[in-house]
Amino acid sequence: MTATSAASRPTPPRIATGPRGLPLLGVALDIRRDVLGWNLRAAGYGPVAQYRFGPMRSYLVSHPDGLKHVLQDHVKNYTKEHFGYDMIRRIVGNGIFTSEGETWLKQRRLAQPAFHRARIAAMAAQMVRATAELSEQWAASQRTGEPRYGVRDMMSLTLRIVGEALLGSDVREETEAVAAAFSVISEQTTERFRSFRLLPPVLPTAYDRAFRQANQSLRDVVARVITKRRERMEDQGDLLSMFMLARDEETGEQMDDEHLRNEVLTMLLAGHETTANALSWVWGLLAQNPDAEARLHEELDTVLGGRLPTAEEVPKLVYTRRVLDEALRLYPPVYSLSRKVVADDTVCGYQVLGGSSVYLSPYVTHRLPEFWPDPERFEPDRFTPEQVAARPRFAYFPFLGGPRQCIGNNFALMEGTLIIATLAQRHRPRLVAGYTLAPEPLLTLRPVGELPVTITAR
Ligand code: HEM
Repeated sequence: MTATSAASRPTPPRIATGPRGLPLLGVALDIRRDVLGWNLRAAGYGPVAQYRFGPMRSYLVSHPDGLKHVLQDHVKNYTKEHFGYDMIRRIVGNGIFTSEGETWLKQRRLAQPAFHRARIAAMAAQMVRATAELSEQWAASQRTGEPRYGVRDMMSLTLRIVGEALLGSDVREETEAVAAAFSVISEQTTERFRSFRLLPPVLPTAYDRAFRQANQSLRDVVARVITKRRERMEDQGDLLSMFMLARDEETGEQMDDEHLRNEVLTMLLAGHETTANALSWVWGLLAQNPDAEARLHEELDTVLGGRLPTAEEVPKLVYTRRVLDEALRLYPPVYSLSRKVVADDTVCGYQVLGGSSVYLSPYVTHRLPEFWPDPERFEPDRFTPEQVAARPRFAYFPFLGGPRQCIGNNFALMEGTLIIATLAQRHRPRLVAGYTLAPEPLLTLRPVGELPVTITAR
């Protein structure tokens, strides 16, 4: 063999290593015990770690270059045809979140106009109005000293906002039903995933019945939203109207009821849970970081001077936004995602076999010391324009990236900034004595115990 032919031969991909598990179960028990800690340890094996989750060959891709490959450059090779998404399909059916290929593209094109910047800006006043009402409730709790649960407050606020802004619907009376149903679904889906209960919840057991009831109660809420709109028969120009009036370009058909319910339920769930968790973390982290809190207050005083914020002022709330970005770094609500690998591939020089699972974890990548020095420290100034430009795009991906990037990212970022600005102007939530702020990794990542706080005045 000549030197030239050896040099021109492509280097074969390397075989990734990773934590060893038990026969049959693989690393499932370790993941069940401590999913976040386990993921951090697995990332220590390199940009791509390989392991067995039960019988499934799996890879954790943690390096930004690998994420760019999976989510953007070779996105067609990594699909949502994964058993994790089959579990999500039980909840939201085949809506925009779970569909693939042409079906997904049609859904995405249909929904996209509702998320244009100008449209979102027009929703700001409603977001602030809803938050100002919560502020009155916080003021009352401030006077009595009665503790509140940050997660519950943020859930009802963001549910109300998404209901009004995107679906033109007042869902305030439904808040408790949605919260209770979602909590059953979130706990059970996490448990079923981690213990490989792949069978759908069809058995006559109390456990399966609880899931079915919770699912039905969510669908009832959505059916009421749709029925109310149909009674009025008017085009309100919002997302719900777009869904109801859309016709397929080829067939001219409108969405059937089942499809419409799936899309609406997807937006209702995807549009409130994540944002609520992100904001809950903001309150918890600010309570623990008085210097950052003081800088936030200073900005709010300078920019707003006691007034309620408007959409035009959002770009001036620079530090407020950094606080939100940093909370999303440390505790990304979507802390782990999966994809099914279609065909053999090479990621960061490592072999990734077709038919296996790829896992991506914002929680882990957001802590790689190479991009995030002293990663556990809460430091909003990591998000100065210079620091952002110095990092690879996929070192930070709370909303993902590539074509399947969150459609609601600008909505959530504006909503979050407005909510923080409105509430932090008047109130300082403090963690109740004896409470330790820690993550609870269910379907999304929330503060454990729903974040009990007392509200103090600024
Ligand atoms: C802080 C808040 C939010 C976070 C962290 C977040 C995060 C994400 C992530 C990581 C994905 C990709 C999921 C996957 O590929 O499995 C996603 C998708 C999605 N999100 Fe969000 N999201 C947030 C807020 C919102 C809001 C406010 C809405 C709607 C109003 C929304 C609607 C959606 C939808 C419909 C998808 C599916 C998009 C597609 O596949 O084309 N999200 N989100």
